[in-house]
Amino acid sequence: MNIIEIISKKRDKEKLSQEEIEYFVNGYTKGEITDYQAAALVMAIYINGMDYEEIKNLTIAMANSGETLDLSDISKTIIDKHSSGGVGDKITLIVMPIIASFGIPVAKMSGRGLGITGGTIDKLESIPGYKTDISLDEFKNNIKEIGISLIGQTKDLAPADKKIYALRDTIACTDSIPLIASSIMSKKIAAGANKLVLEVTCGSGAFMKEEKEAEELSRLMKKIGELAGIETICVMTNMNQPIGRAVGNSLEIEETVESLKGNIAEDVKQVVLTIAGYILKLAGYGEDLNENKKRAWEKIQNGEAYKKFVQLIEKQYGDVKYLEDIKKAKYIIPIKAEKSGYVVNLQAENIGKASITLGAGRMKKEDEIDHTARNNS
Ligand code: URA
Repeated sequence: MNIIEIISKKRDKEKLSQEEIEYFVNGYTKGEITDYQAAALVMAIYINGMDYEEIKNLTIAMANSGETLDLSDISKTIIDKHSSGGVGDKITLIVMPIIASFGIPVAKMSGRGLGITGGTIDKLESIPGYKTDISLDEFKNNIKEIGISLIGQTKDLAPADKKIYALRDTIACTDSIPLIASSIMSKKIAAGANKLVLEVTCGSGAFMKEEKEAEELSRLMKKIGELAGIETICVMTNMNQPIGRAVGNSLEIEETVESLKGNIAEDVKQVVLTIAGYILKLAGYGEDLNENKKRAWEKIQNGEAYKKFVQLIEKQYGDVKYLEDIKKAKYIIPIKAEKSGYVVNLQAENIGKASITLGAGRMKKEDEIDHTARNNS
């Protein structure tokens, strides 16, 4: 078996065997397969797709490419949440402190920006000092001590996804059902949760532009989750417009802080409370979604969710004083409408593209991003 044969097979629309998929994943993780060969195969998968068996095998090979975490000594129920990505999507940053303030352990591994969508890790790294690359021991300790830890993918956990994710970002291979499903689910399987809520975004600012595609992605991830013994709920959310009031890394931290203090945009509130409601359901708080949403809202109103967020930032070496005085972009240029009227629609995709052009995302894998670059709606 060799990588050139595997690339040609997928190029010619043939099905890859489990052994071929494992050969690629392990070889690329170890650096034996080059970036350009991996890029060719990923592009062939993007163009010609994969069937369920191939996607399942890719997911499992990626999950097994590094360590898998066992968090059963922390709690019997470990809850995780993931979004398929969107423009202005700061939901994780608001939901997870709410959940941790209930005493439910939150062990969250997030990603960087991908394509036009922002990444939770890039947002957190806009806070001076915040470390997203702590060791797995420290990750577990933080969960034990303060009930929450939020980190980036370590080099030990699903390292194949880390490499393929960064590669996809720079070769226009982000919006592919097999690649998204395997990327998300490999991380979730490796990270040790047994209950999972997935926010599957749909619309102009998401990878899935049509509801039909978002449904297909949801069904696929639920099936893979259940195969891996993870109880999985998918919530489809509208991403035709950027969510909330801000797009851009540091500005979304500012919006997170405001939201956790109760000054929350209506669309953000709806999504946050719905996701939190389902997480509470999985954590045993009962089937009544409206009751669970009320419980979650109380945590914002009584300040406990914000307190938990500050605790998280402090525990991971972030400067908490910064949260009250967030760095602004060097140049701020207001663009005024030429005539009066009402804004009825904002093109999420174009706003995402503009943010990347301003420096909020990457053109090459190695690119540094400008955390202050943003679009303010
Ligand atoms: N989030 C991920 O982790 N991977 C994707 O491919 C898309 C969103």
